[in-house]
Formats: sequence, structure tokens, C-alpha cells
Amino acid sequence: MSSEEQKKSANRSRPTTDEFRAFVASGWAPRPTGLPERTTAAPYAAERRAAVSAAFPGERLVIPAGGLKVRSNDTDYVFRPHSAFAHLTGLGSDREPDAVLVLEPTGDAGGDGDVPGHEAILYFRPLAGRDTDEFFNDSRYGEFWVGARPTIDDLEAELGISGRHIDEFADAVGKDAGAVTVRVVREADAAAAALVDKARAGQGESTDHSEVEPRVEAMHQADDELSAFLSHLRMVKDEWEIDEMRSAVEGTHRGFDAVIADLPEAVRRGRGERWVEGVFGLHARHHGNGVGYDSICASGDHANTLHWIKNTGDIREGDLLLLDAGVEVDSLFTADITRTLPVSGTFTEAQRGIYDAVHAAQEAGIAACKPGNRFSDIHAAAIRVIAEHLEQWGLLPEGVDVEATLDKEHGQYHRRWMVHGTSHHLGIDVHDCALATREQYMDGELKPGMIVTVEPGLYFKADDLLAPPEFRGNGVRIEDDILITEDGCENLSAAMPRSADDVEAWIARIWSERG
Ligand code: GLY
Ligand code: MN
Ligand code: MN
Repeated sequence: MSSEEQKKSANRSRPTTDEFRAFVASGWAPRPTGLPERTTAAPYAAERRAAVSAAFPGERLVIPAGGLKVRSNDTDYVFRPHSAFAHLTGLGSDREPDAVLVLEPTGDAGGDGDVPGHEAILYFRPLAGRDTDEFFNDSRYGEFWVGARPTIDDLEAELGISGRHIDEFADAVGKDAGAVTVRVVREADAAAAALVDKARAGQGESTDHSEVEPRVEAMHQADDELSAFLSHLRMVKDEWEIDEMRSAVEGTHRGFDAVIADLPEAVRRGRGERWVEGVFGLHARHHGNGVGYDSICASGDHANTLHWIKNTGDIREGDLLLLDAGVEVDSLFTADITRTLPVSGTFTEAQRGIYDAVHAAQEAGIAACKPGNRFSDIHAAAIRVIAEHLEQWGLLPEGVDVEATLDKEHGQYHRRWMVHGTSHHLGIDVHDCALATREQYMDGELKPGMIVTVEPGLYFKADDLLAPPEFRGNGVRIEDDILITEDGCENLSAAMPRSADDVEAWIARIWSERG
């Protein structure tokens, strides 16, 4: 404990007598005896663990959930487990801080274990007895403060994974450390990674720095391989995950409907971007776990700042509102959807011109979403349409045509107006599978079960003197969540209007329905 922590805990500790302890531990009804039902995610999570087991035979694999992060003093951020942990356990929302999933090699490829060749063991902090100090006196973990946690029996019943107390993890991870290869998802939890490193430190005889350093580097590289494998494992979604994504999209649709209904109020109040953020956030929190990323509520010129999450601006009649927002459901799967809405209900001619160009680019990108195509084909298809419009508008430099700007080495002038990529994988992370290799991701083949965004845009800053004056101060992005199917794709967010006409009709319908 640092001296500051010591001072803090001395300031805050509550004196207790033996009499008080006995009093606080007594007079409670017995705990409920029933066990929770097995989650619907459990069999799917078991299949994912089986794939990991097959890829790393005979190795001990450590996948931490991560720990609570201090926001200030004794106040923590809401906990969110690491995505690999959530994927392999099926646990979502705020569960379970400090837990660690270990795939322990059984040396039995026939498999008595949870998966052939490995037993899945979840080390976690189970419910403490009412006779413990923790029960009433621990503001971080205690039942008085954060509610009752599951028991080991509860979690075993819920997940179909063996449960152990987290206090047993340090010994378990070091067991036979010299004889078994151990890998850890390092970035998930520095404390768990340190315990793995400590176990490994005992493995080598040498303390010579020049010998130890390369050994440590090789082990960290082995850890990175595990992280990359687990990131790539999420690329093709199973049916359970696809259903979760459908729910995330449905909640997001409701949130956008509510924002449209409240647009006049957002204009009237001033600081309307914050109003929109709050309205969407209410629905995100009500439907699911919350927003999957900070909502981008960008009116007028703010839409040209790609990650505008300050959301401090007014929303004015005549502006476009770019709303990029997604509901994350309790399993942590998130939608990622953008609509660009005319605040007054109708686009101006210039706004419609930009909008139609982006819509055409998006259609081209979606048409490229089919098995056999490469991921990078989506961007290539969409950006060509963007470049064609920029050429038609006379915005490319003198002597630069569509082919010239698309040239990767010497062109790319169109990036002045659309600097970002058109697509990314989507799932538990909004930018899912980010540790997959270039061959697996950018150059990877699209396969049924993958979910990607298609999100071209055009951004004309208010001070862009190369842009036509009527374009300036307008940014448009349209983003949908696309499931690759056997014979093409399904737009999971197809129920949310997209064309300029359909968007105007959507706004008109909601305003007329809600008076
Ligand atoms: N909302 C972040 C993105 O569209 O990638
Ligand atoms: Mn996106
Ligand atoms: Mn987005």
C-alpha cells in the first residue's frame, strides 16, 4: 500500500468491536438455496473454448477479466470485462471484476475436462460469509456496498465451468511452471500478467540479464499470439452472437426514433447535442448495458470532426445532425450505426447532393459484402463512388481523375474529404478483432457469419476554401451493420431508413405520430 493509500484507509476505516461484529453477522434469513439457470450463451462459449484448446494443446492459458479501475479516490468506473474473457465465458455487463479464466491442460485429449485437452476453471471472488469483515466493511467488494456476488456453486451452475476462489489463482498459475507453457492475455490485467511472469521467472536457471531478456521477450510474444488468436476467433459469429447483434440494432433503432421525436426540443433548449446524447443514452441504458462507445452527436460543422464526442454544440434549424451511436446489450455486443438527419425535416439541395453521393457509395460498399470477396473490397467499392462524385464536382486537383486519385502511391487526394476507412468488424468490441493480422483482416476473405460496418462519408469543413460554399459546414456519414450470409449479405439495420427521401419520411412520420 502506498503511503497515500495508507493515509486514506486510516482516515476512512471504521472502528469495530467484537460485539458489533457478532451483532452485524447475526439475524439474517438463510441464503436462497436455488441455483441459477445455465445461460443460453454457455454451450456457445464452450465451443469457443474448444477451438482455443485445439490451437494450444498442452498449454496453460490465462484469460483475465481485468480489475476495477479507480475513477477517483474510492470511486471506481463501472466494470467491463475484457472482450476475450466475455467471449469465452459468456459473462457480460459488469461481471466479474478480478476473475480469471484458466484453460488448464488435462493431458487427456479424449477429454474428461470441459473441452478436449483442457479443463476450464474460473477463479473469481465469490460471495463472502456474513461473518467476514468484507461483508459489511469493504466498500469495493462487500455485500453491504455492492450487493451479493455469486457463490462458487452459483457460477458453476450458470456457466458450466469449474469455479475456484481467486485466492487460489497465484499458486495454480505457478504449478509445474517449468514443465508447462503458460500464456496470458497480458493487456487484460497487469496484476494477473505479473503473477504469470513471476511463475515464469522461476523457470530459468540463469539470472544473466543478456540471457533473461530474450527469454522474457519470447514469452511476451507468445502471449501476444494468444491475444491475436482470441481476437481473430471472434471474427465469424455464431447464431447466438448474431441474435445478440439483432437485439443491439433493434435497441439502437429505438434510440434513433426517440432522438428524432425530441429534435425540436433539442433545438429549443440549446446545447442540443448533449440533449441528443442523453436521449439516446437513456434508451441504450434501458434496452441494454449502455452505449457501445461514446455517441457522436455532431450538428453542422461539428460533423466534420470525426470523433466529435464533446457534444457541446447547439442544434440549429437548417443544419444536418450526424448521429453515430450504438446500443450495447448486456452480453456486450454493440451496434454501430450512423444516420445524418436534416434538423428541419428536409434536406437543402446542397445537403441532398452530398447525401446522395454518400448513399450511392454505401450501396456500392454493401454490394461488395459477399463471401469470396476480400474485406478490403468493401472500401475499394465505396471509395470509387466517392472519388467519382468529387471528380464530377470538380474538386480533385487539376489533371487528377478518378483512377489517379485512387492510386495508392501517388494519389489519395479524395482523402481530404473522406479520410477514414469504410468498414470494420463489429461485435463485442465496436472495432472488433483489432488484433487479427493483416492477412486475416484487411486481406481476409469475407465469410458467412462475419458482421462488418459499411460507413462511407463526405466531410466539408466550414473553412474549406476548395469546397463549394453551399457544401461548407456539412458532414454526412451513413453507417449500417452488415451480416455476411451464404449468398451475399443481410443489412441488420435495414429497418432504419437510409435514402434521403426515406429519411425525410421517417422524420415526418415520427413528428406526426408524436404530435
Ligand atoms: N463509431 C465509431 C465508428 O463508426 O467506427
Ligand atoms: Mn463504425
Ligand atoms: Mn459509428
